[in-house]
Amino acid sequence: MEARAGRFPGPSLIPELQAIQSRLGCLPRAELVALARRMRRPLYEIEGLVSFYPHFRTEASPKVALHACRDLSCWLAGSAPGLTDGYGPDVEVREVSCLGRCDTAPAIAVNEHPARAAAALVAAASEGTLGAAHSRVG
Ligand code: FES
Repeated sequence: MEARAGRFPGPSLIPELQAIQSRLGCLPRAELVALARRMRRPLYEIEGLVSFYPHFRTEASPKVALHACRDLSCWLAGSAPGLTDGYGPDVEVREVSCLGRCDTAPAIAVNEHPARAAAALVAAASEGTLGAAHSRVG
């Protein structure tokens, strides 16, 4: 809200955060502090961005991350029950806000690959074969 009000002028921090996460797999606090100093932006602005967007992580990512949308379109389409059941402890299951796939609700994403059915993608991610072949599922 403060950014919209012009309190945080300057370039978007999203590309910087994505670059750190691509390089390290997550956003460690020391990197956020360094980014705040380098960009001369308040740390709480950066922490606000990190906590708002579900794809930003402050801890190392699991091998398989299954994100299920819990917002209105997906809820109306019958999301959650059964979509994320039955996976082992090596699969992180999280409910997240809109994944931008409302047109194919209920929406899920496996390791940030959008999908309508999780099982095949979770298996591919567990085997380390989730890649370009699965990038246009859904
Ligand atoms: S409400 Fe679920 S993807 Fe938009």
